Amino acid sequence: MQRDLSLEIVRVTESAALASARWTGKGNKHSADEAATSAMRAIFSSIPFRGTVVIGEGEMDEAPMLYIGEPVGNGLGPEYDVAVDPLEGTDIVASGRNNALSVVAIAEKGNLLNAPDMYMEKLAVGPRLAGKLSLDDSLEETVLKAAALLNKEVTELTVSILDRKRHADKIFVLRTLGVKIHLLSDGDVAGAMATAFPETGIDLHVGSGGAPEGVLAAAALRCMGGEFQGRLLPDSEAETQRCIEMGIRDPSKVLGMSDLVGESDIYFAATGVTSGDFLSGVKFTLGGRAETHSVVMRAETQTVRFIQCVHQTHDYRQLGSA
Ligand code: FBP
Repeated sequence: MQRDLSLEIVRVTESAALASARWTGKGNKHSADEAATSAMRAIFSSIPFRGTVVIGEGEMDEAPMLYIGEPVGNGLGPEYDVAVDPLEGTDIVASGRNNALSVVAIAEKGNLLNAPDMYMEKLAVGPRLAGKLSLDDSLEETVLKAAALLNKEVTELTVSILDRKRHADKIFVLRTLGVKIHLLSDGDVAGAMATAFPETGIDLHVGSGGAPEGVLAAAALRCMGGEFQGRLLPDSEAETQRCIEMGIRDPSKVLGMSDLVGESDIYFAATGVTSGDFLSGVKFTLGGRAETHSVVMRAETQTVRFIQCVHQTHDYRQLGSA
C-alpha cells in the first residue's frame, strides 16, 4: 500500500474530529454526526486514491454522505476498501462524555467485510491474549482462561462492556466472578481498541454492539497484534437474509480476523473527539487554534504512531459551526 496514505488518512479523522467536537455537550447528536461526515468527506476528495466505502453512514438511499458503495478519493491511484465512522459515539458528544472517536480504516480492495447494520457479539483482546480465546466458550470460561494466561487473579482482570440492559446476564457473570468491570456508555470501537493499549488496564472487551463497528475494531486490532472475534446477531428473517446476501451463509459462525478484515495490509487512523482511555479529545485553544490527538497504524509493520497536531481552525469552524 502507498506509505503516504497513513498521513493522509489521519488528516481525514482530524478534520472530522475538529468539526464534530464543536458540538460537544450541545445535546444534538445529528448535527455532530453531520459535521463529522461532511468534514471527512471533503478531505477524502483531496487524497490520491480510488476508495469505495464498504462500512459507512448507511445505504445509498438513506445516507447522503459516505454511503456504502460511495467512491471516495480523487479517483487516481490504487483501489482500496474504506471503512469509516466519522463520529463513533454520537450520543457521547451530544452529552459531553468520554471516548468519542473519528475513525477510518483502509485496506486493499475486497478485504474489509461489508458488515450488515445489525448487532454483533464481540470478543476483543490485546496481543497477549490474541489467538488464545474463543467466542464459542462461555463468558466464565473466557474470563478464567484470560486470567490464567495473563497470570492474574480473576479479581485483577478488567473487562469492558457496553452498559446495556441486554448485557445484564453477562454483567451478572462478571460480577459473580469478581472481575473489575469498565462500563461504557457508548463507543465499543474505543472499548475494543483499549485492550491493546496496556496503559488502559483493560484486558478484554465483551458483549454486543454494532457489526460495522466490529469491522473497524478488528482493523485496529490487526494493526496492534490484538484479536477480534465476532458473531452476527440477526434478529429477524430479513436480517438473516441480509447476512446471506452479503455472503455470510451461516450467520451464527464466529467471524475471525481474516473474515472481518482479510489478509492484506491495512491502515487505520483514529482521532479523539472527546477524551478517552488512550486518546485526548479536541482542545480548542486561543486564536482559533485547536489541538488534536490521533493514532495512525499499519498492519504490515504494526507501527503505531501517535500524532498530536495544532490546527488553525477557520475552515473547520465553517464545516462544524455549532
Ligand atoms: P453511534 O456513534 O452510531 O451512536 O454508535 C455508538 C455505539 O455505542 C457503538 O460504539 C456501538 O457499537 C453501538 O452504538 C451499540 O449500539 P446500541 O446503542 O444500540 O447498544
